[in-house]
Amino acid sequence: MESYELEAVGAVTTRPAVQYRTIEVAPVTPLIGAEVSGADLSAELPPDQLAEIKEAFLRHHVLVFRDQTISQDDHKRFAGHFGPLRPVNPPPPDGDPYILEISTDKAADNVAGNGWHADGTADAEPSLGSMLYITRVPEGGSGGDTLFANMHLAYEMLSPALRGMLEGMTAVHDGLIAFKGYTPPADYVIPKAEHPLVVRHPETDRRVLYVNGAYTARIPQLSPDESEALLAMLCEIPARRPMLSCRVRWAPNTLVFWDNRCVQHHAVYDYYPLTRYGRRVAIDGGPLKA
Ligand code: SIN
Repeated sequence: MESYELEAVGAVTTRPAVQYRTIEVAPVTPLIGAEVSGADLSAELPPDQLAEIKEAFLRHHVLVFRDQTISQDDHKRFAGHFGPLRPVNPPPPDGDPYILEISTDKAADNVAGNGWHADGTADAEPSLGSMLYITRVPEGGSGGDTLFANMHLAYEMLSPALRGMLEGMTAVHDGLIAFKGYTPPADYVIPKAEHPLVVRHPETDRRVLYVNGAYTARIPQLSPDESEALLAMLCEIPARRPMLSCRVRWAPNTLVFWDNRCVQHHAVYDYYPLTRYGRRVAIDGGPLKA
């Protein structure tokens, strides 16, 4: 690796150390993800425990809570501690407007999230985070893991020359791209928004490479050819650099909470013809600034 890449990896550990009193936090990798135990998400969380969970979220970006037996109301209550809930778009045909069913079986013609992306980046005010509660894993526990990539580090590991070039650039995110190959439902309100290519995390101010293959359409400051080539390179980073990512192996009754502002994820579809089922709640975020 180049020296600027190693420096970037070193910088990840400079956040002040923290002693948790109400939860245990075990990192999944040194760079992203942590398993959190000691919290019962079926109950109202005490304020000090909630504050520690928020701190762990900002440090690790992806939190994994095992063995949780929660109702849809518990799921929404926990999510609501981080911001207003975001209605599902397109709205579910029946059921709760805030709960997206993530359901795949051998008849599925569209597998949600099977490619690197962050949720809701085509919205003018992209989602803060998502909470996915998986209750059914492929029979025998084989496959259906989700990968999560640290997009702070993706930015920090770019060469200084390329980081300089990205300064001041924006990208258009288009909700139609996510439906490539499929016809979007008639009630899908197609989101489209322009964001800086490099944004600052609203809570930590740390920079993030903010492009993803599912939504980012073009860089208006470049010619079409240049935009296509640069976006292809930037969007491939999570796949080309395994060091950026952690892998979550689901078991029934696992809830994972990830930060859509600085994490991309990829739900790996490697379990055909088996079945996987869960429910996801998304949380509203605000506008993103350079
Ligand atoms: C998604 O939100 O993209 C789905 C993630 C998953 O199913 O693991």
